[in-house]
Amino acid sequence: MDLLFKGGTVVTASSKFKADVAVKGEKIVAVGANLKPEAKTEVIDAKGKLILPGAIDGHTHLAMPFGGTISTDDYHTGTRAAACGGTTTVFDFVLQAPKDEGMWDAVKRRDAICVEQGPVIDYSYHVGVGNATTPEMIATMDECVENGVVSFKVFMVYDFGVDDGQFYNVLAHSTEIGAIVGVHAENKSVNDCLNAKYLGEGKTSAWWHYMSKNEAVAGEADVRAINLAKMTGAALYIVHTDNKQGVEAAAAARAEGYPIFLETCPQYLAMTSDVYKDEDKGFPKKYADLGLRPRDFVCSPPMKGQESQDALWNGIKNGTVSTLATDHCPFLQSEKDWGITKKDGTPGNYTTIPNGCAGIENMYPYILSEANKGRISFEKAVAISATNPAKLFGIDYCKGAIEVGLDADIVVYDPKIKFEVKNAENQHGALDHTVWESAKFKGYPCAVYSRGKLVFDGKDFVGEKGYGKFVKQKKVKFTSPEF
Ligand code: URP
Ligand code: ZN
Ligand code: ZN
Repeated sequence: MDLLFKGGTVVTASSKFKADVAVKGEKIVAVGANLKPEAKTEVIDAKGKLILPGAIDGHTHLAMPFGGTISTDDYHTGTRAAACGGTTTVFDFVLQAPKDEGMWDAVKRRDAICVEQGPVIDYSYHVGVGNATTPEMIATMDECVENGVVSFKVFMVYDFGVDDGQFYNVLAHSTEIGAIVGVHAENKSVNDCLNAKYLGEGKTSAWWHYMSKNEAVAGEADVRAINLAKMTGAALYIVHTDNKQGVEAAAAARAEGYPIFLETCPQYLAMTSDVYKDEDKGFPKKYADLGLRPRDFVCSPPMKGQESQDALWNGIKNGTVSTLATDHCPFLQSEKDWGITKKDGTPGNYTTIPNGCAGIENMYPYILSEANKGRISFEKAVAISATNPAKLFGIDYCKGAIEVGLDADIVVYDPKIKFEVKNAENQHGALDHTVWESAKFKGYPCAVYSRGKLVFDGKDFVGEKGYGKFVKQKKVKFTSPEF
């Protein structure tokens, strides 16, 4: 064996037990009591530490062209930041561009960019379906599935979104080919109407971004998406769930036996719509003091009110919410300023702010810190951050748990460390700001391994550019809400 983690506590999605963990090459080869090192084994003292599977961030937008620019972190800087926060696999989004591009062609085009940029941890993709208007185009899903991409996502908003008919057809086809469909659920027509109304009334600040994509705008679309899934018998994965109505609708559908799965994101658990309040009307002082502005928090969907946040936490506790992911899609503050003055120098408004925030380095530390403080169990944190996404996206044959035969994607977690996010000092992406600035975590990863290779030593990134490999997804079929 090459590595032996000695004396730690292994955490799985369902249990916590004292055990040593042995690694040979890229794989976990033994988990058990009193494992003995061989002559050349490197022994890692894990006493007082937790041994966790690396997190799987099922929702990132790296180097994504969006909102008139490209998201700040690319496949190198974004995965480097992920690794330093204990995330060892990311699922990034591929969009069909132009819209008549076949879906597998879109994946190949995107993968060439990713490989060129040099990801440092493993990665896979979801195909964002922007065009499902013909049977021929829908059939291009099959080539993706055969080549190891079984996860698709439709957007009910944006100019690259689909209508309900296309969504229905994608869902129906997914049941025939072993795929899963995710959805960004917001009511586009109502969002458009509200934008016209607010902008007509001269309401241009970030607060109106929230109001135009409020709880009901998201909740209605969640309910509709669930109904479409029920009509087809398909499994549905609602990404970045943010509102109570959506959580309740999913809970009801799951109680009826439908395979509906919810993802939420740390920003919806830690922040509320207060972050969009004008600076003189309740924007939290702690953010203003750090140089953050309401427009820096503009992402879609926006953060919601306290009632929704409570529903999301309850959903995690009672199992209605299956996964946690970041939706990492950061932009520079100068780009966020396009909400005041557009790129072309004309007056901007909340619709001209590139949508998205950072989070890739903060997800696992945040949820583990919440576990360490007793809000949820460590097992639950592992389930939603690693084990469940591995199952949903067909990579549980190699990732998502500390188990013999799986990749040695291992986080050594020190529950005693006190960590404060300081972008300029201890974050590893390409960001000029983060909405997580000054967040305080109880506990932090002190070492992160990707397929047996140390990538984070507790302070710095120590991995290698280009080390990350594409992870093939195997076909999936969910006929009930198994987790
Ligand atoms: O604001 C966000 N999340 N931007 C990325 C696109 C999306 O909707 O996920
Ligand atoms: Zn989205
Ligand atoms: Zn997203």
